[in-house]
Amino acid sequence: MNDGVKTIGVLTSGGDAPGMNAAVRAVVRTAIAYGCQVKGIQKGYSGLLEEEIIDLYAGSVSDIINRGGTFLYTARCEEFRTEEGQRKGAEICRKHGIDSVVVIGGDGSFQGARKLAAHGINTIGVPGTIDLDIACTDYTIGFDTAVNTAMEAIDKVRDTSTSHERCSIIEVMGRNAGYIALWCGIANGAEDILLPELYNYDEEALIDHIIANRRRGKKHHIIINAEGVGHSTSMAKRIEAATGIETRATILGHLQRGGSPTAKDRVMASVMGAYAVDALMGGKSNRVVAYKDGKYVDYDIEEALAMQKELDPFQYSVAKILAR
Ligand code: ADP
Ligand code: F6P
Repeated sequence: MNDGVKTIGVLTSGGDAPGMNAAVRAVVRTAIAYGCQVKGIQKGYSGLLEEEIIDLYAGSVSDIINRGGTFLYTARCEEFRTEEGQRKGAEICRKHGIDSVVVIGGDGSFQGARKLAAHGINTIGVPGTIDLDIACTDYTIGFDTAVNTAMEAIDKVRDTSTSHERCSIIEVMGRNAGYIALWCGIANGAEDILLPELYNYDEEALIDHIIANRRRGKKHHIIINAEGVGHSTSMAKRIEAATGIETRATILGHLQRGGSPTAKDRVMASVMGAYAVDALMGGKSNRVVAYKDGKYVDYDIEEALAMQKELDPFQYSVAKILAR
């Protein structure tokens, strides 16, 4: 056990994700089980610099495992990107007796954690983002809930799309990554899936596909468009003009980020949060928790940030074959 770890701070940073609360709860209760004190740093690095720091006890995290969002709040903070901001953050940690921080967030938040570690604070990152775009891990907290939320919404759009015999373009989140789009594409049986990683912007081919499907008797044509491709509204206008088929665009937006986390997100978040504290107590710092090939592991933050991840081409080919 690492005697140098006495007070653990925990923060959520970047876009919120369902399951972040479960991760915070796991950090708090695991740390307490080790005999440590725990402090909640509110509003990510922004709250750190503003010293918005609260004491957390086992009871402070009661009744949050089932709640979406993050009860610690989250933020993006430009000041923390500067050397000055990072030094100030580390000093504030020391002032509050915080020797270690668990950072729950995405790649950007891990960059911040790395800087905090360079200024002498032990840090461990926990992957929390609906986008699934962290290369070192096969799973990120929030993805399962977001996909299920989007899937249910797309089912509803599909109902009305069929009734009106329309084409529907539904835009899902994911920043520059197409994981949510690909998963929904398969789960919703979409006719087309446009992914930033793979879409060749051949709109004529898309239009030909819509016309061919209509001739075959398909009553709707669902296109799942990833945020990274974007432009759903203008695309809908062009498709309607070219095909003569009424076309509507629906941008699902932030509803995908909220809601009660699924069992998978609660469990993954709980295990990853506990793992982060175990790692600190085992003397580790500057590491990211990951779920890789069916196991919970950890990587050096720099190594993790340098990794590349690709969409599974087999999964994409299956989506295409099934969309007939
Ligand atoms: P995510 O963690 O979801 O990828 P962001 O990329 O918005 O979200 O990053 C969240 C926050 O992490 C930023 O607002 C900033 O405070 C901090 N951060 C991001 N990049 C860096 C960096 N290079 N150095 C220090 N802090 C960073
Ligand atoms: O990273 C999560 C995410 O929801 C992305 O999918 C999206 O691009 C972005 O955050 C939206 O950010 P904001 O909440 O600032 O609009």
